[in-house]
Amino acid sequence: MNRGDGGLQSTAQHLFHGLAPSYDSVLEYVTLYQDRYWKKFLLEEADLKRGFKILDLACGTGVLQDYIAEGDCEVVGLDVTERMIRIGKEKRRRGEANSLVVGDAESIPFGDKSFDVVLSCYLPKYCRTDRMADEIQRVLKPGGRLLLYDFTRPRGFLAPFHAFYVYGVLKLLGVIAGRTSRELEFTFKKLPEIIRESTWDQTLPEVMLSRGFRRVGKRVLSGGVVTAFWGTKSPTSP
Ligand SMILES: C[S@@+](CC[C@H](N)C(=O)[O-])C[C@H]1O[C@@H](n2cnc3c(N)ncnc32)[C@H](O)[C@@H]1O
Repeated sequence: MNRGDGGLQSTAQHLFHGLAPSYDSVLEYVTLYQDRYWKKFLLEEADLKRGFKILDLACGTGVLQDYIAEGDCEVVGLDVTERMIRIGKEKRRRGEANSLVVGDAESIPFGDKSFDVVLSCYLPKYCRTDRMADEIQRVLKPGGRLLLYDFTRPRGFLAPFHAFYVYGVLKLLGVIAGRTSRELEFTFKKLPEIIRESTWDQTLPEVMLSRGFRRVGKRVLSGGVVTAFWGTKSPTSP
């Protein structure tokens, strides 16, 4: 994020604590079943190799890991919301090697140069992009890659439809959900505000370049509803 305070981290915990039990299905509905295509795009772009050690940053319940063939890579998921991690672990009871850990993307609890690739979906709008980039740069091996995407605001002809959906339909869902769950009401009311206020996509490329990332690229997906960014830690970086 972008406002220079840590407030959104606790907002995120509040948002996702309430949403956690229904998160996987809400993700499908809210993204109109597009999330699976965005995740597949990210993984194609990542071109993962057998034996890679991957950090799924802000992993939630571990949805991204479901798209990575088991056994090919070691995937570690990190998320600040303990309940998302707990539900992710319950989904994976049947002896998978991948691990899920509670922790903050702005203070990643892993050593320097630990990962070949950092992947992340929907994190930057909840973070100070400079702190997030510092930490990702630190835990990546030299030559390692960061690939992420998050919600953005489309321009052009899609903009009014997007605004209607995010600020109209989602807010209305919040009012309806509020009849049964205060937590879901908070989620659906707060998320549109966060999407509207976030400037993560404007700050991130510059922040990545200033942290020594090279080959920084971006792809606008679904007309700008989300944007993906990627970059490579310089092989000579400390
Ligand atoms: C929309 S969910 C995405 C989960 C998962 N990446 C996916 O694609 O399904 C956003 C996640 O970001 C997590 N999050 C927000 N701020 C965080 C932070 N500072 N550090 C780690 N995780 C964070 C939330 O707890 C939540 O699980």
